[in-house]
Amino acid sequence: MSALRLTAAAALLLAAAAGAAIAAGKDVAAPPMAASLKPLSDFAAIKDRKARSLALFQEVGKVLQHPRCLNCHPRTDRPTQTDTMRPHMPWVVRGDSGMGAPGLRCQTCHHDRNFDPAGVPGNPKWQLAPAEMAWQGKTLGEICVQIKDKSRNGGRSMPELIHHMAEDELVGWGWNPGGKRTPAPGTQAQFGALFEAWAKSGAVCPAG
Ligand code: HEC
Ligand code: HEC
Repeated sequence: MSALRLTAAAALLLAAAAGAAIAAGKDVAAPPMAASLKPLSDFAAIKDRKARSLALFQEVGKVLQHPRCLNCHPRTDRPTQTDTMRPHMPWVVRGDSGMGAPGLRCQTCHHDRNFDPAGVPGNPKWQLAPAEMAWQGKTLGEICVQIKDKSRNGGRSMPELIHHMAEDELVGWGWNPGGKRTPAPGTQAQFGALFEAWAKSGAVCPAG
């Protein structure tokens, strides 16, 4: 009898600890999700080059600040999940290489493709973005400056960044996320074209 009570108390304690940890891990409120991207032609009408560049980056930001991207570019050592960007369940951490702690690698659960019967997303390159590539909790202007900074973007030149946005298959997962997840707006090709147009109009970053 007392053993039973002890077990129940321990379970309660554990649940409370997990709850507190989840609250502490809660990063930022999920931003509103855009349903579509404006076509490139909408921006050609903006005569002023700087204004055009800024408008293009606002549009690009609808993808960059979408939960499909932010969930894997967190500011803590833990990914977040779902459209509400709640802390990842079960508890997983970055580990040395972004692939998880030795005992619980991302690939233990995340395989080469989405596994819809269990609602687990997948991709051959599934791992957490490095800490210097954290986007959660940052303004669009801060994200903009950061992705242009070679010391924080994986050493990429602008052409390499354009290629990554338009072609990378892990980025592409954002439009094919499986389960009940909301895909990123537009298509990856549209997103890549907007990003390229932004780069070609001077790659101007929003203030703040
Ligand atoms: C499953 C996790 C995951 C998801 C989802 C994800 N990323 Fe990443 N991202 C990474 C990892 C890991 C890297 C570092 C790999 C590298 O540098 O090649 C990275 C790096 C990047 C970079 C280059 C570095 C930088 O910050 O400039 C860009 C750009 C990027 N991701 C864009 C996106 C976009 C856009 C989306 C959503 C459509 C997205 N990512 C979704 C994991 C993810
Ligand atoms: C024990 C299994 C397990 C491990 C290990 C695991 N995950 Fe997950 N992960 C899941 C499940 C299940 C989901 C789907 C949950 C949902 O959508 O309700 C998920 C969802 C996610 C999502 C949310 C995708 C989205 O946009 O909604 C991200 C990001 C993610 N995992 C990253 C990681 C990373 C990075 C690692 C390694 C550091 C990792 N996971 C390790 C089981 C796991």
